[in-house]
Amino acid sequence: MRYKKTVLITGGAGFIGSHVVRLFVQKYPQYRIVNLDTLTYAGNLENLRDIEKAPNYTFIKGNIRDTAFLKDLFESYRFQGIIHLAAESHVDRSIENPMEFIETNVIGTVNLLNAARLAWRGQEGCRFYHVSTDEVYGSLGDEGLFTETTAYDPRSPYSASKAASDHFVRAYHHTYHLPVVLSNCSNNYGPNHFPEKLIPLIINNILHGKPLPIYGDGKYARDWLWVKDHASAIDVIFHKGKEGETYNIGGNNEWKNIDLVEKLCDIMDEKTGKPQGSSQKLITFVKDRPGHDRRYAIDASKLRDELGWTPSITFEEGFRMTIDWYLTHPDWIKNVTSGAYQQYYEKQYDNR
Ligand code: NAD
Ligand code: DAU
Repeated sequence: MRYKKTVLITGGAGFIGSHVVRLFVQKYPQYRIVNLDTLTYAGNLENLRDIEKAPNYTFIKGNIRDTAFLKDLFESYRFQGIIHLAAESHVDRSIENPMEFIETNVIGTVNLLNAARLAWRGQEGCRFYHVSTDEVYGSLGDEGLFTETTAYDPRSPYSASKAASDHFVRAYHHTYHLPVVLSNCSNNYGPNHFPEKLIPLIINNILHGKPLPIYGDGKYARDWLWVKDHASAIDVIFHKGKEGETYNIGGNNEWKNIDLVEKLCDIMDEKTGKPQGSSQKLITFVKDRPGHDRRYAIDASKLRDELGWTPSITFEEGFRMTIDWYLTHPDWIKNVTSGAYQQYYEKQYDNR
């Protein structure tokens, strides 16, 4: 089959990337989708089992830190589109080991920009889409929302590495006219979320009767978005976003951590047939995350008004679907939490 275009998706075996890959493979049979992922602890091909044999899908194991490998890859595939999600994504890990974040998120992104620049040389119809985070904007007070013009103020090694990569993407657009588009999204939740992150970690700990660690006073706020809605926003921005522009993506769905965890406990009790209040008894306040950002909240009105995107489901629906997914995928949880995860978890929580 002759494909209309070949699209490279990096980090497609991870949490968000797996939903983006599935959406593109199924919705665009006329595109050849190449998933490039080095399969770190967070990358898992099980996330894509259902589509791995699709004729328009190819998986390639490789590292965006490796420039020689990227050069060969770009020569072989002649990509016209790139959706770049590969990253080290966990804030706590970035506090332990910032260099990993600089090497993948900053240098890896610049390697990809260089490969695209060399391959495209002004060719029409190409697009480099950089997927980023709202954490680049820093922390909000009690009021207000992040907009696309909020000044960057990253405060963790993770967010500093993402901010640096965003700056490089814009610099390549400005200096070399590389056709780029960017988005900055709030916290995602849903299937395939690695259980080091708040929601799946709490579900997993409830299932094992372990303490539910709440950092600091628990009144830190995050704006949660159903992961498949992030994927649909990426689809819209990739196809309709204006070159050189940035779009904020969010669910207008802000929760304080403690309120979210209490709600999660109650639904877990209901679904597992335990007396109401059982899981809440596991809540344990622990030492705070260093430099913990107090509040994130996104103004996604540019994306709504200019490109017509809005979330497709309510938080109530998405949250229940997420819990159901974890309850029906014990093997997935077991596989990703075996081995190195236990050491990570114990080290992380022994210190708190
Ligand atoms: P994740 O950690 O679940 O997945 C990252 C994927 O990238 C993994 O499959 C991993 O194997 C791969 N990867 C890591 N280093 C690589 C390298 N050097 N070369 C090739 N592949 C590599 O992350 P996620 O939560 O799915 O986040 C995806 C992207 O979205 C990231 O860029 C992140 O900054 C951004 N983002 C995440 C959220 C969120 O709530 N999770 C919100 C906004 C933006
Ligand atoms: O805002 C987007 C970002 O959201 C993404 O860019 C990151 O890749 C993603 O990991 C996420 O970052 P957070 O730090 O907000 O997510 P995390 O799930 O680690 O934490 C959510 C909140 O819960 C945060 O305030 C810290 C708190 N927390 C987290 C863990 C893991 C706890 O209280 N206890 C915990 O055990």
